[in-house]
Amino acid sequence: MKILVVGSGGREHALAWKLAQSERVQTIFVAPGNGGTASDARLKNIAISDPAALADFAEQEHIALTVVGPEVPLAAGIVNIFRARGLKIFGPSKEAAQLESSKDFAKSFMQRHHIPTAEYQTFSDLQAAHAYIDAKGAPIVIKADGLAAGKGVVVAMDLHEAHAAVDMMLSDNKLGDAGARVVIEEFLAGEEASFIVMVDGKNILPLATSQDHKRLLDQDAGPNTGGMGAYSPAPIVTPQLHARVMREIIVPTVQGMAKDGIIFTGFLYAGLMIDDQGNPKTLEFNCRMGDPETQPIMARLKTDLVQVMEHAVNGTLDSVELEWDRRTAMGVVMAAAGYPDAPRKGDVISGIPPETADSVTFHAGTSLNDKTLLSSGGRVLCVVGLGDTVKLAQKHAYDVVEKIHFDGAQYRRDIGWRALNRKH
Ligand code: AMP
Ligand code: GLY
Repeated sequence: MKILVVGSGGREHALAWKLAQSERVQTIFVAPGNGGTASDARLKNIAISDPAALADFAEQEHIALTVVGPEVPLAAGIVNIFRARGLKIFGPSKEAAQLESSKDFAKSFMQRHHIPTAEYQTFSDLQAAHAYIDAKGAPIVIKADGLAAGKGVVVAMDLHEAHAAVDMMLSDNKLGDAGARVVIEEFLAGEEASFIVMVDGKNILPLATSQDHKRLLDQDAGPNTGGMGAYSPAPIVTPQLHARVMREIIVPTVQGMAKDGIIFTGFLYAGLMIDDQGNPKTLEFNCRMGDPETQPIMARLKTDLVQVMEHAVNGTLDSVELEWDRRTAMGVVMAAAGYPDAPRKGDVISGIPPETADSVTFHAGTSLNDKTLLSSGGRVLCVVGLGDTVKLAQKHAYDVVEKIHFDGAQYRRDIGWRALNRKH
């Protein structure tokens, strides 16, 4: 069968890589893909991004199944377009994707359905927003309502920063329409984890847990990024906490959407903050898999992903039991010079070793020009190492990272530090 993966990041490379391991797959098209998907004989890049044009392509090529990676096409309604034409696609409808595409939608949804999250209010009026900040004090968190490619959240540690963030969004319109409304919410302290499940409209299938590293620099310093590394499993999510998150957050979300008349299908990603008493709250929802969380998660998945996806689009996820590699997988992101503000493009990448039993390198911002691999985006590669212990997984990842070269490469040296510091 033929499969279409929509997107061009490390997440899509990892999804396509995993789907390609299925014996039933003839070709996997990646739209538009990257230098890594271009170099893999089992994958084929296609330069189409418009959802309607992708549906034309899926029809012409008799694509059996389409999997969507990023939020932008989901929020634009790619799932609605494919379904209206009878094409099988895994992802949320445009309506369901509002859980990610509007912070205000997500917050009022959580409040209505008693899903634990930070206290908040939404503003479009500048003066009212400033007054609320003064009343609440710092630290406080300012979030653009709409999709802002990771630039829409300011965790303000003092009042000056909080007021500046509101001005940036509501008065200077730096984020355009996405920042025309802001959610201002209570600062939550604790440790974050990524909790991702697959939903077929009715049944919920949790994937392995993971933890991202949002800050650019070691010891969680520097600016927020799309994610500088992730590992799976996340030991902070104990079996007890897992059950609680399912009971208090995931199940009420899927059921609450249905009660509100919106059937949720697709990946549902709850970004959690877990306080020092072990209580989870929802920081945000994403309606897709995480990047870079997908890379270590796919590296650990043993079950045939094509089969899982078929059950997902047919509403039979209750018959699937996922099998995971028991090892830890650790993904280290190598980013371009200047990332996240102004990533430089066009650096020559060399030294990527072939995949082994304990390491694989997924591409993100790369392109293949003749035979030369060039950087073409902020996050360039995600190197995944696997090992029986967190330490060994880390070693296997960094052994590969050190072999790879491009000018100005930035990467954290401490991915996995929370798991390593944990006392079991
Ligand atoms: P979001 O896109 O909403 O997940 O926010 C991006 C990042 O900002 C999160 O991963 C957290 O690190 C941080 N963040 C978001 N909301 C809060 C909050 N209420 N308290 C503390 N940190 C937050
Ligand atoms: N790694 C965080 C995200 O995908 O949103």
